[in-house]
Amino acid sequence: MDLKIKDKVAIVTGGGGGIGKAIAMRLADEGATVVVADLNAEAARNAIDEIKANGGDGLAVSCDATKPEDADAMVQKTISAYGVIDILVNNVGGGTGIAVIVQSQVDQWDKTVEMNLRSVYLSCRAVAKAMISRKQGRIINISSIAGKSGEPLLGPYCASKFGVIGFTQVLARELARYNITVNAVCPGYVYTPGWEKLAQALKDTQPALADKSLQEIFEARVKAVTPLRRPQPPEDIADMVAYLASERARNITGQAINVDGGAVMG
Ligand SMILES: NC(=O)c1ccc[n+]([C@@H]2O[C@H](COP(=O)([O-])OP(=O)(O)OC[C@H]3O[C@@H](n4cnc5c(N)ncnc54)[C@H](O)[C@@H]3O)[C@@H](O)[C@H]2O)c1
Repeated sequence: MDLKIKDKVAIVTGGGGGIGKAIAMRLADEGATVVVADLNAEAARNAIDEIKANGGDGLAVSCDATKPEDADAMVQKTISAYGVIDILVNNVGGGTGIAVIVQSQVDQWDKTVEMNLRSVYLSCRAVAKAMISRKQGRIINISSIAGKSGEPLLGPYCASKFGVIGFTQVLARELARYNITVNAVCPGYVYTPGWEKLAQALKDTQPALADKSLQEIFEARVKAVTPLRRPQPPEDIADMVAYLASERARNITGQAINVDGGAVMG
């Protein structure tokens, strides 16, 4: 299926590693020019080197997606290099530790919401302005199945990922008149550096997991909650993102689509 995103210009936040990198590589494979914006400048450069080695094109941008000035600079650098922005993938996110709400810390709450929700707001605000004038665009926000179903120990993460879905709906309605679609993708269980951090936190705090490897903790969780009984490789998330970024998905907006082996239905 030709997704018709050849020569489109895409920004992927957090595209230096994990799911974001798979998304950047997938869009580049479809012929898009990809701007990888990441806090880890070296990881962003490596991703772009890989894209170029595969015959693609792109730009590495060092960026803290939680800072308004960085989001604006990311847009300016992209426009200076390529003139337009067709696709924005807001992939930055993650947890900052685990705790039940009554024992949680306010600064941990703030950091988590900042990373997952403020980052999406800032990038969308900066990029949408550039899309509106052209009356076209695709915005894809990476939420989570934790944005559809509450999970103990992950209060601020769940709250911010639910927030990403609500924000996606608002923006989809606001931008529809400009032919810009806005959707969310909700991954299930993807073994990445981000998930490894969660597995380590579980291992450190739950005596029953003390002798398990991080991979074992991940796999046990997948088997316990996923009807298809398998994890999702990052490429499966990237496939859905590429589809939503494509011309083929022109009638899909305001949706939050799970790629999770059936872990959450609805
Ligand atoms: N891994 C999973 O199972 C899973 C499940 C559901 C949702 N998600 C979501 O998918 C997204 C990617 O997750 P992942 O597991 O690949 O994460 P990861 O931690 O493995 O990778 C995150 C990337 O984002 C970059 N980054 C972090 N903070 C940043 C910031 N402030 N500004 C710019 N770049 C920043 C990191 O340098 C890294 O390259 C997140 O939004 C996460 O919440 C992941």
